[in-house]
Amino acid sequence: MVRKLKVAQDNAWLKLYGPTGRVRIWLNAAWNFLTHCLGIGVLRSPAHHAGADAKTVERRRLAELKRHGARVPSVLGEGKDTLLLTDLGSTLASQLRQNPDEHHRNAMVARVARAIADVHRRGAYLGQAFPRNITLRGDDVGFIDFEEDPGDIMSVAEAQARDWVMFSAGVARFYRHRENDLAAILSHAARDEAHEVRLLVAGTAHRLSFLESRWLRLRSTAAFRAAIRAMRTAFASHDRREAMQS
Ligand SMILES: Nc1ncnc2c1ncn2[C@@H]1O[C@H](COP(=O)(O)OP(=O)(O)O)[C@@H](O)[C@H]1O
Ligand SMILES: [Mg+2]
Repeated sequence: MVRKLKVAQDNAWLKLYGPTGRVRIWLNAAWNFLTHCLGIGVLRSPAHHAGADAKTVERRRLAELKRHGARVPSVLGEGKDTLLLTDLGSTLASQLRQNPDEHHRNAMVARVARAIADVHRRGAYLGQAFPRNITLRGDDVGFIDFEEDPGDIMSVAEAQARDWVMFSAGVARFYRHRENDLAAILSHAARDEAHEVRLLVAGTAHRLSFLESRWLRLRSTAAFRAAIRAMRTAFASHDRREAMQS
């Protein structure tokens, strides 16, 4: 649970880390088995910690990311299973919803994509790179929500690839019928990503292509299918160009 507060005139966020239900643990296990069967291991879920453990993971990850130069909240105070965090501004999700203009949306998504690539260039990774966990204040991109650590169960390259898949899937609903725009943004931002990361994203998008078959083309998966097409173009074309040039 998260609550917005005022601390010495400034906004702040009090985050309370609750228990983890049994259902959540079983769903995690089932999801991880499914990702294994589908060969999309970068999408497996790390353990969902509860209470004080979750707080410890989030505090550790915030310190790691700060050391790597990422813009994350500072810790103003803490209790047994709570953290009081500085405010980084409104989320990319709410700003995309409020701004229907395509050029404006492209500019925001491109700025955030460059910030993700910067984090990766410094050897770090995010974790849940969805638009609701990314903030934008002017030109500053911030990242929040680190109570899970994909690094517990996968390599840095896999965790970085996972960031791109989550980010692409998260913004794709604003790019239905415009996935070429999204592909161009991703392709540009991720042009210097490690070869292994590019291959993992392209491979994941390729493995998920079955969702585009006529029988599975459900309305509910339309945005995700746009993300798959954008990732396939953005993360594969570069390697193909490289191969043709050599
Ligand atoms: N430091 C922060 N700066 C700005 N917004 C925040 C901050 N912390 C939380 N929020 C807001 O609260 C929401 C939930 O917080 P989050 O840390 O993502 O917890 P949860 O685990 O519940 O998703 C975010 O999507 C964002 O809208
Ligand atoms: Mg969140």
